[in-house]
Amino acid sequence: MADAAPEPKEPPLIRREDYRPFPWLVPEIVLDFDLGLDRTIVRSTLTVARNARGDRADTIRLNGDGLSPRRVAIDGAPVNDWAMDEGDLVLPLAGDAHEIMIETEIDPSANSQLMGLYASNGMLCTQCEAEGFRRIAFFPDRPDVLSTYRVRMEGSRTQFPVLLSNGNAVAHGESDDGRHWAEWHDPWPKPSYLFALVAGDLVARSDRFTTMGGREVALNVWVREEDLPRTEHAMESLKRAMKWDEDAFGREYDLDQFNIVAVGDFNMGAMENKGLNIFNTKYVLADPETATDGDYDAIEGVIGHEYFHNWSGNRVTCRDWFQLSLKEGFTVLRDQLFSQDLQGEAVKRIEDVRVLRSVQFPEDSGPLAHPIRPDSFREISNFYTATVYNKGAEVIRMMRTMAGPEAFRAGTDLYFDRHDGEAATCEDFVSAMEDGAGLDLGTFRRWYSQAGTPKVSVELDHRGNTATLTLRQYVPPTPGQPAKQPMPIPLRLALFDRASGTHAGEQLIVLEDAEATIAFDGFAERPVLSINRGFSAPISIERQASRDDLVFLAARDDDAFARAEAMQELVVGHLVAAAGEGLDASDRQQGQDAIAEALAAVLEDSRLDDLMRGELMVLPGEAYLAEQMLVADPGRIHREREGLKRWLAGELGDRLRTLHSRASAVPYALDRKARGARKVKTLALSYLAAGDREAAAELAARQYDAADNMTDRQGALMALCGLDSAARTDRLIDFYRRHRSNALVIDKWFSLQAMSLHPAAIEHVKALREHQDFTLRNPNRVRALYMAFAGNPHAFHTESGEGYRLVADLILDLDPINAQTAARFVPPLGRWRRIEPGRAALMRAELERIAAAPGLSRDTREQVERSLG
Ligand code: PHE
Ligand code: ZN
Repeated sequence: MADAAPEPKEPPLIRREDYRPFPWLVPEIVLDFDLGLDRTIVRSTLTVARNARGDRADTIRLNGDGLSPRRVAIDGAPVNDWAMDEGDLVLPLAGDAHEIMIETEIDPSANSQLMGLYASNGMLCTQCEAEGFRRIAFFPDRPDVLSTYRVRMEGSRTQFPVLLSNGNAVAHGESDDGRHWAEWHDPWPKPSYLFALVAGDLVARSDRFTTMGGREVALNVWVREEDLPRTEHAMESLKRAMKWDEDAFGREYDLDQFNIVAVGDFNMGAMENKGLNIFNTKYVLADPETATDGDYDAIEGVIGHEYFHNWSGNRVTCRDWFQLSLKEGFTVLRDQLFSQDLQGEAVKRIEDVRVLRSVQFPEDSGPLAHPIRPDSFREISNFYTATVYNKGAEVIRMMRTMAGPEAFRAGTDLYFDRHDGEAATCEDFVSAMEDGAGLDLGTFRRWYSQAGTPKVSVELDHRGNTATLTLRQYVPPTPGQPAKQPMPIPLRLALFDRASGTHAGEQLIVLEDAEATIAFDGFAERPVLSINRGFSAPISIERQASRDDLVFLAARDDDAFARAEAMQELVVGHLVAAAGEGLDASDRQQGQDAIAEALAAVLEDSRLDDLMRGELMVLPGEAYLAEQMLVADPGRIHREREGLKRWLAGELGDRLRTLHSRASAVPYALDRKARGARKVKTLALSYLAAGDREAAAELAARQYDAADNMTDRQGALMALCGLDSAARTDRLIDFYRRHRSNALVIDKWFSLQAMSLHPAAIEHVKALREHQDFTLRNPNRVRALYMAFAGNPHAFHTESGEGYRLVADLILDLDPINAQTAARFVPPLGRWRRIEPGRAALMRAELERIAAAPGLSRDTREQVERSLG
């Protein structure tokens, strides 16, 4: 494999507008694997026929990456006049239909990129999306070439007792010398990126599901034997997801088996291979001892997500990778709606919006900004982004908001119906939505082509009996898109009567143009405006809401999401002013008082359940605060935010301690009430930790010692990690000893130290990268240490620039081993333009140092070059 081979020339820019159908169809492929950890022989037989819709060609180009053909035959006759072009194999092909046989040999154990066929913990598994199949076999590795797959694999029975692939198991048997074989057939035509194979020593939790049409499906969650006790939640989530997709979208499963395999070495969260989903262990394994409530939720969400891809992704797939949001945006929306039905709508929405704002908004306002349907790329792996996924989901959610749930369902039914078995485009989705849901999405299509988060300025005027709302939208320039057109923006809003605290009904207005003025009659007094309720559009609202209005909405808005928004706006306004232009003593006092009053109400409101109370207690993150400023000083933002916490801890200390002790009395359970209690418990603790540190360390140590579950234990250790106390060291050692055999928990141990508020966090990270358990070969471990660190502003943005250097060193060390993962660490450095000049220069210098390194991967090179601009 050419894992570390230097790139000789600038990788080509691939453009959406250059799409051409492939000249050949490949209706069938037969794959035969002779399995070995460091030598696997692959024999592939492709049935090919001319594609009437493609250009006529007298050759066929089969993509390859690091492969060389051992044997090639066409229609049974050996062929020698093939040619290699870059990694691709080009064969002469004169007739209209042929059978091509190619044999290749690969070394899975040398595959550290974790793309293609690789070894993980003694087992063999594959990852093919986006372009990994070409590391296994020569093939037109593009999503618009759909084939039925027949797979035969043979290998040692002791090494690989379990042999899995897509579709249905059709035959298996023993062969000589302790070897055995299995044959699988997938009746559903699919692109190569959905191919999967697993061979290893695994055991399954098994169950069954009967579909709405009466099909009996065998379900299996495959793991290493010692992990079996931690698979119940994944299985329960799978069954709920299967039922939910029938109820909410009318989608039924279409094979006799559904297999999930958990692997410890995986670049992403999980993969929707047809009938054989492969998961990062992080999104499968859970029990109360080792997984937090957040882990339980994430598992349910990811299991749902991958399962939902069976229709939005597999039955209807993408024509080309520019259409990635067609499957990802839609599937994220589907998993959000699924989780919301189970977790509660407002809490789930608040969490999803928090992610959007802290990850996607910065992406959309930085050098890597791109539309949800990009126009060009060099390396597609770099476009599995929060924009394609999360903003993509928001765009489809807006269609749902405008159409209403029933018409939206009619639209998705039509989409699935029209395009089942096809490789479709975003445009196909939008057209189906127009025809099925009865929407006119003419200018709405701009959401697919324009990058950047729209800003909407809001003014509310009051005269006589009329309130007049003026809305103006502005879509900021982004790389390659200097000028933008207005986009339709659906806004749910309500006008509250200040005296009664009620409103006459929520309205949905769609801001179509750059500007609109809307008059509302019947308001003797100036109403209080609640706008973009439920986050009906992924925009940022700019308005001068008075503190009183925000306190009013934070206490009384009947939309739980809007209530949390008002609370956030109050804090954001204060902190941005404090960390930006600065506040005079009286403004500061008034701001703090208003926040303390609102937070006190949150702590005491008996109508709130604790899960929602917890959401209302979360302060806006530093990345999102920085996003509100043209140029941010991360040091000041951090000091102001911590200062506010400290002040609130002093002001509301008794109430926080009362809350902590009330919550501590609730016994462990997985229901809403107990989960809510755990959430507010740790939040109360983290406020208190900003105040009287000694008392907080004692309380945290007590929470740690009393913990009978990971949520409480991790929460306590998180607080302790930020404090300089003996209890910190003791409990860190205890945690490590308790969990040293569980990689996922040791990941938490690395993360907690890298994320910590401790002033020496950066020194801790430097020590941890030398720790015996740290390795660049495992993406979870790398992310546990370095993503946590890059997301820890006070440490990453250390004034000396040492934090930037640590991340740049990582990128350079990791790039030859795992380019995809290495490239994901570039964006934190890419934010330099929005950071104060001193740090910006240091960040830029690190990017330049990376850019100058020889032999950089296509992945990292593209991200670094875009970041330097
Ligand atoms: N398609 C996967 C998902 O979103 C993500 C993924 C992409 C996994 C590329 C691996 C590699 O569900
Ligand atoms: Zn997905």
